[in-house]
Amino acid sequence: MSGAPQDQENSTDRSVEHWDRVYATKAESTLGWYEADFSTTLNFLGEVPIAGKRIFLAGVGLSGVARKLAERGGKVILNDLSRVAIEKLIARDHLDDFAAELAVGDLGSIDEEPRIATCDVWLDRAVLHFIYEDANLAAYFKRVRASVALGGYAMFAEFAPGGATKCSNLPTKQYSPADLAERLGSDFSLVRAQETEYVTPGGNVRPYTFALFHRVRVT
Ligand SMILES: C[S@@+](CC[C@H](N)C(=O)[O-])C[C@H]1O[C@@H](n2cnc3c(N)ncnc32)[C@H](O)[C@@H]1O
Repeated sequence: MSGAPQDQENSTDRSVEHWDRVYATKAESTLGWYEADFSTTLNFLGEVPIAGKRIFLAGVGLSGVARKLAERGGKVILNDLSRVAIEKLIARDHLDDFAAELAVGDLGSIDEEPRIATCDVWLDRAVLHFIYEDANLAAYFKRVRASVALGGYAMFAEFAPGGATKCSNLPTKQYSPADLAERLGSDFSLVRAQETEYVTPGGNVRPYTFALFHRVRVT
């Protein structure tokens, strides 16, 4: 990003500080995206092959979904801006036992890093909707297109239109399945989509768009 004052407000460094502070100071069960079980995501993945596949977990935070997918034989690749979160997650869920790979960094970064290795499944729950500027969004979807193998899948669970405009004191975007399809381009075909309601620990109802895409060509 350039050095303009409003860019500095949104810069990666500030985001890293923000998320590191969240994960260093807040109890997990109070976080506005906390879930104790992961059946909504796992059920939505449905028939997507996991065993032996490379599963990229965008902005995984402290999500126990990483361990669930590793137990199913997935080779998990852990991404987050926050190293604090990743280290806590690995220690708590013993992910070293599963030879989890790390890819720490900002998925919206317009720099070359982080480079994301090829994966068979890209899974993003509540990460993309924080990426705000067009250039950062373009960089995020460039990474998706560069990483997801032909025949692989990309799954998103993001705030739905009419849903939350803020989370963790940060502004958020909202996505319909069509918005995601447009961003992904014609190399990805929509398998299914649905709107679900997530209730935060504070009792707020948050509509989410869940959408699963199949990589049908590489252009
Ligand atoms: C709302 S939390 C969701 C965490 C996890 N996916 C879940 O479902 O529990 C958003 C996560 O995305 C991470 N994050 C935010 N912006 C990011 C970015 N640009 N690149 C990578 N991770 C990011 C945050 O550190 C945080 O862990």
